[in-house]
Amino acid sequence: MPTDLMIHAEDVVKSFGTHTALDGVTLRVPRGTVLGLLGHNGAGKTTLINVLTTVLPPDGGTASVAGFDVVAEGAQVRSSIGLTGQYTLVDEDLTGRQNLVMIARLLGLSSRDARRHAAELLESFGLVDAADRKAGKFSGGMKRRLDLAVSLVGRPHVVFLDEPTTGLDPTSRIALWETVERLTREEGTTVLLTTQYMEEADRLADAITVLSHGRVVASGTAGELKAGLGRRTVTITPSDPALASEVLSRNGFEVGRELDAVHVPVSATREVAVVVRLLTDADVDLAALTVTEPSLDDVYLALAAQPRGVLQ
Ligand SMILES: Nc1ncnc2c1ncn2[C@@H]1O[C@H](COP(=O)(O)OP(=O)(O)OP(=O)(O)O)[C@@H](O)[C@H]1O
Ligand SMILES: [Mg+2]
Repeated sequence: MPTDLMIHAEDVVKSFGTHTALDGVTLRVPRGTVLGLLGHNGAGKTTLINVLTTVLPPDGGTASVAGFDVVAEGAQVRSSIGLTGQYTLVDEDLTGRQNLVMIARLLGLSSRDARRHAAELLESFGLVDAADRKAGKFSGGMKRRLDLAVSLVGRPHVVFLDEPTTGLDPTSRIALWETVERLTREEGTTVLLTTQYMEEADRLADAITVLSHGRVVASGTAGELKAGLGRRTVTITPSDPALASEVLSRNGFEVGRELDAVHVPVSATREVAVVVRLLTDADVDLAALTVTEPSLDDVYLALAAQPRGVLQ
């Protein structure tokens, strides 16, 4: 295995009874990069994180994290990683600061270093004011931030974040994004994060893997996935929107109307010219015309609409 792969799964299979939650998943995440793992509810994202973090043993295939095998070298894997689960795990009877100090002590830091490290994390997650209150009294978003801070205690080489920003307000979400960017840029940390927010994947992820029914149905950079969709949208503001829609649908275009604007998905640039010609021939004037690239949302929806496993 090349040593710069910090997460490497080959053909990982995991079943619960008769249900196959992971059906041969392969992924490779180089050091210092962020992999965004997308997929519908029940696609297998949390199960994959559980296998990679040694919470669950795989039934088949192999996986290593930071160069250690998740089955044979579980202890080494655990000492290389930080994990923020989908649901909060902080000890509600301890204060925010005590939670952090406790984990740092468990990881072997001296009392003094643990306190200093906890103070730094409280600062970077905006928890200084609440630090000495019991975590059980924190709001949902504050608990989430504390969870994230806990996962970074000990400066792990690989961090797994399962829907880290669900329930966070916009300010905290942006703060988390900046933290992830700083970790990868300054400390070379490798991050695997799951998210349902396409904007988050677009901003943070160097590469994206889409899971569906336990299989990888697409992987690549956000740009590659968008280009792979091969579909752009022409938006026009015609003098007569009703006539424009009628002419275009009569000629086989799929047409969407929104107030005075008409949206027409096209698969090739020359189709833009066809749209313009059809409308000119029908004496429809155009006040505006724009061509937009697909969003990651479009990619996701196109993949989610596919039946099992047909895309790869
Ligand atoms: N411990 C378990 N026992 C039985 N079935 C399970 C268990 N954990 C997960 N599953 C099943 O495995 C499938 C994948 O679940 P998983 O939690 O990995 O999905 P997910 O992609 O994380 O979904 P979500 O977006 O809702 O978090 C689901 O069908 C789920 O019901
Ligand atoms: Mg999940």
